[in-house]
Amino acid sequence: MTISDQTLERMRELASRYPQPRSALLPMLHLVQSVDGEVTTDGINACAEVLGISPAEVTGVSTFYTMYKRKPVGEHHIGVCVNTLCGLLGGDAVYDALSERLGVGHNEPTADGKFSLERIECQAACTHAPVMTVDWEFIDDVTPAAAVDVVDRLERGEQVLSTRGPAIRTFQATEHTLAFPDDGLAGEGTSVDDKMLAGLRYAKEHNMSAPAHGQEA
Ligand code: FES
Repeated sequence: MTISDQTLERMRELASRYPQPRSALLPMLHLVQSVDGEVTTDGINACAEVLGISPAEVTGVSTFYTMYKRKPVGEHHIGVCVNTLCGLLGGDAVYDALSERLGVGHNEPTADGKFSLERIECQAACTHAPVMTVDWEFIDDVTPAAAVDVVDRLERGEQVLSTRGPAIRTFQATEHTLAFPDDGLAGEGTSVDDKMLAGLRYAKEHNMSAPAHGQEA
């Protein structure tokens, strides 16, 4: 899809927010994904033009980070963490159940374009392992049956709440939020719970504190 004048204007708005305009490249690439559903060649060229850098430099960044997609993903993009803790607690089984339900493998979209699936790395959410994400929103403490149920409900057009954020929207809607975070949804859902605070609580109960800088050894 060709990048519209309106999207170009929003790219310039992002670039103007930083002392070094190229610092805006990451949100600009999220903006491209919010309008095109992937990082398109047109999107890369538009970022390069706005920032005064080469398309090769933009491409280098977009292929380094796995959140940027060079192929179309589904309307809902599902990630399953299979790193150590999630894997040990069932992440691989969750991935296998979703792969079977959707009939796709890693980084593949379904034929109808409704879903895509990806094995993802640690999401810094290990307190609630195993976790899956739908359009980057968390579904914590997930089981194979619960993961398939999320897909079933989304397919029926039902509302699905993430476990620590807003209701699931779409990949492209969340990508817009990653470009412009002020979407009014920051207060939705439960952001902190007892499990997340357990380490802090234990440290306080046992009078533990971090060593002063330089005294770590
Ligand atoms: S290992 Fe899955 S969130 Fe950390």
